[in-house]
Amino acid sequence: MTIYAISDLHTDNRENRELVEQISTTEFLNDTLLIAGDISNKLEVIESTLNTLQARFKKLFFVPGNHELWVAKDDDHSIAKFERILALCSRLGIATSPQRVEDVWIVPLFSWYEGDFYPAGNINDSQLEGWSDFHFCQWPDQIDPLSYFLALNRPNIRGYDRPVISFSHFVPRLELIPPPEVLFFKSLPLVSGSNQIEAQLREINSHVHLFGHTHINRDQTIEDVRYVQNALRYPRERKMFGRSNRLRLTQVWPTSS
Ligand SMILES: [Fe+2]
Ligand SMILES: [Fe+2]
Repeated sequence: MTIYAISDLHTDNRENRELVEQISTTEFLNDTLLIAGDISNKLEVIESTLNTLQARFKKLFFVPGNHELWVAKDDDHSIAKFERILALCSRLGIATSPQRVEDVWIVPLFSWYEGDFYPAGNINDSQLEGWSDFHFCQWPDQIDPLSYFLALNRPNIRGYDRPVISFSHFVPRLELIPPPEVLFFKSLPLVSGSNQIEAQLREINSHVHLFGHTHINRDQTIEDVRYVQNALRYPRERKMFGRSNRLRLTQVWPTSS
């Protein structure tokens, strides 16, 4: 049994949908796939993508990203949408809470971002006005999304009796984002993640942590934790970075080295 990782499938996009459909229907039938958020904002696209993947893997794990929590007119708010997505996963048999897979524990961590990677005022926030989440996410009064999602994780922040692989959509630490001077979107670190995600994954003694969201892929070990981002990204981003137009799965267990 091998555990693979991917994020940011964005299958609203036809090319991305085709890449998912092209994954072998025979090669991974004994394997597990971790999907670290951003399939789509549309429930029907999320469901059809999960169905496509379920026919190709033995077991799927999923956490919603920010795109999943965008609401249309008939949705009341982003927390209700989050709950609908968890109910969909439950109906499809897709794990959104910790489960042991053979000799490892897989621990999904719900999360959001807080902009706590830099002291206030130390980073350019002038590009944030057009940030889509500020327009398409709706939060109930008194709800701070990061605190809300981290509190949902709380019962699962405990000791585990086997190695732990954790995953979140958002970034757990600043070192995983390139410095602002090389970023196209200078304000990205403010809407990327939080040190509080890092605190939770350290508390459960995670060996490997998968994340997504920035679409800047990484495979980097920091203080004995291997951090992986393997985002499929948008076709224009794959072209921009000169990568071939294919979907690669990153193996996170067993560790290949
Ligand atoms: Fe994304
Ligand atoms: Fe995202």
